[in-house]
Order: sequence, then structure tokens, then C-alpha cells
Amino acid sequence: MFAIEALPTNAIELENVIQTVANIEAVVQPDDAWNQKTLTELLEQDSICLLIAYDQAKEESVSHREIVGYCLYQTTFEQAEVLRIGTDPKYQRQGIALQVLNKLHELLQLNQVESLLLEVRADNAAAIALYEQQAFSIIHRRKGYYKVPHEPAIDALIMQHTYI
Ligand SMILES: CC(C)(COP(=O)(O)OP(=O)(O)OC[C@H]1O[C@@H](n2cnc3c(N)ncnc32)[C@H](O)[C@@H]1OP(=O)(O)O)[C@@H](O)C(=O)NCCC(=O)NCCS
Repeated sequence: MFAIEALPTNAIELENVIQTVANIEAVVQPDDAWNQKTLTELLEQDSICLLIAYDQAKEESVSHREIVGYCLYQTTFEQAEVLRIGTDPKYQRQGIALQVLNKLHELLQLNQVESLLLEVRADNAAAIALYEQQAFSIIHRRKGYYKVPHEPAIDALIMQHTYI
């Protein structure tokens, strides 16, 4: 159904993939989307990688694959962090983020990573449910971290999944 893969190495394909991920970001994280330039600069760092979810049912050709989700992550020695994760709204609730995280766990364990961290807004019920299903637990709460004009600030939760 969905294939989870690392970034392509072909430069043109790479540019298209990053642009598509930026387009999905703009929809799923409208207040704080990372654009193509930001994503490209981040991916120039060796420690930062992107996993892509493709819809296999819509594979027309190698250069025209439907991107439906992504996860940007960083690995620093024995610790990794999810920097961004998102699923195209048309494809949400079909198990894509779960599949992406399972692939990520597999890759991190192969690289002897001991724990995976992430930060999530305390009001992001969908993401928190996803992480709890993946055995992440809350290890810290940053009180009032997300400032929203004319509204109470929202806490940030730091969640961790351990492999050892
Ligand atoms: C969070 C997000 C990545 C989940 O992607 P997804 O591909 O739809 O997730 P999945 O289909 O793999 O869902 C797996 C589980 O997560 C939980 N979940 C996902 N979306 C949910 C929702 N809208 N409400 C409640 N639980 C939800 C459920 O436990 C679900 O399992 P179930 O469908 O068997 O009940 C997606 O909603 C998204 O892109 N959100 C906007 C970006 C974002 O918030 N990213 C995280 C920032 S920390």
C-alpha cells in the first residue's frame, strides 16, 4: 500500500520531493511550516534525514510518485529526534505515520540509537495519540512554550521512545 523510503539521490527528483514535502508542511503545520529552502538547508547536514511515504497504488513512474507523508529526523550519536512528521490530510488515518515511525525505529536500532525524542504541543491530540500508541512517554513539560496571541500559551511536551 504505502512504501517508506529514504530521499532519492537524483538531484531533480530530490528537489521535487523536498518541494512536495514543503507543500504538505504548509497544509499540516500552517502556523510554522518549514519551506523548501529551510528543508534543503537542513538536509545538507549529515545528521538530518528525511523518510518519505509514497502511495504505491498511484505509482505512475519513478519520477511521478505520489508523496503522502514524511518524517524529518536528526541523529546525534546514540540519540535521535523527530524534527517534523506529517501526513497529507487526504491520507490521514490510514496508518501512514505509524508505518513511517516503524521504519524509523528499524533504521535507528540498526544504527545503535538508544532513544528517540520529540516535542509536541500539548493540544495536539492526534499526534499525542500516535506517539502513545508507539510507546513514547512524556519525560518533560515546557510550561507555556507555545505563545498564541490573545490566548493562553500552550505547553510543549517532550516525549521519548527508548530502544534499550
Ligand atoms: C499526527 C499525524 C502525523 C498522524 O498521521 P496519520 O498518518 O494520520 O496517522 P496514522 O493513520 O498512522 O494514525 C495512527 C494512530 O495515531 C492516532 N491518531 C492519528 N490521527 C488521529 C486523530 N486525528 N485523532 C485521534 N487520534 C489520531 C490514532 O491512535 C491512530 O491509530 P488508529 O487510526 O488505529 O486509531 C497527522 O495527523 C498530521 O500530519 N498532523 C499534522 C502535523 C502534526 O501535528 N505533526 C506532529 C507534530 S509533533
